[in-house]
Amino acid sequence: MDVTEQSTKQAPLLQAEGVVKRYGGLAAVDGISFTVESGAIVGIAGPNGAGKTTLFDVVTGIVRADEGSITFAGEPIHKASVHHICQLGLARTFQLPSVFDTQTVAANVLAGAHFGHPHPWWSGLRTKRELLEATQRELSFAGLADRSAALAGPLAAFDKKRLMIASALASDPSLLFLDEPFGGLTPHEVDELMELLTAIRGRGITIVIIEHVMRALMALSDRVLIMNHGSKLFEGSPADVLADEEVVRVYLGRKGEQEADDASGQ
Ligand SMILES: Nc1ncnc2c1ncn2[C@@H]1O[C@H](COP(=O)(O)OP(=O)(O)OP(=O)(O)O)[C@@H](O)[C@H]1O
Ligand SMILES: [Mg+2]
Repeated sequence: MDVTEQSTKQAPLLQAEGVVKRYGGLAAVDGISFTVESGAIVGIAGPNGAGKTTLFDVVTGIVRADEGSITFAGEPIHKASVHHICQLGLARTFQLPSVFDTQTVAANVLAGAHFGHPHPWWSGLRTKRELLEATQRELSFAGLADRSAALAGPLAAFDKKRLMIASALASDPSLLFLDEPFGGLTPHEVDELMELLTAIRGRGITIVIIEHVMRALMALSDRVLIMNHGSKLFEGSPADVLADEEVVRVYLGRKGEQEADDASGQ
């Protein structure tokens, strides 16, 4: 690599080094290091309890890492607040539907827009026009414009997933973390959501997806990271992951047996 190449090579958008999160005696995340390049879709999979959601919680500032460092967009964030991390451009959705049930769909998305805004969102009731515009834009983008006045609580599961995504997008992220966005969807909804995520990537937003629905994860991801017991079991291309004996033994094989049991009602 010559000097010009070195100087033009971009630092990763996100870089985590030796991240540990313990709950009592359990290391839910046990020394993970990983990077996310700008523009990529990175997939994360692994058995239940592997520490995937905890890793999201640590990176997004919901819980503090016990050890390790995390850098996002050139700034250390392992001691930063949830607000600050969101305002730097990292937004997320949650594994379980997390919407403000008693608020409208539009109010939920507006809350996301406020959350990502650098001025204190609790400082008054004044709403800037750009936040209202972001709300309308993301409602339409997620296919929810016709439900903007509906209450969020009674929405169907797929609409709640899209609402979480629209709210996250309204905060204007450069990096979007999605925790099991495909879980519980019908095959047709999976296809629709895959299209939506492809369109999000088309907007230049980098994505990290935790997912057990391998059809979607494999089709979307440039790179897949498999976690087990809080550690990285494997990292590579979707094709390499499917061919890895250890991943099949620890995760994919067990998952196949579980799905067969579920299908036969056991
Ligand atoms: N707040 C908490 N307090 C105590 N233990 C926790 C807490 N959150 C997670 N854990 C434990 O940490 C481990 C990792 O949990 P986590 O939810 O990160 O797994 P996961 O990989 O997301 O699993 P799943 O695929 O089922 O969502 C589990 O053993 C879990 O019980
Ligand atoms: Mg989880």
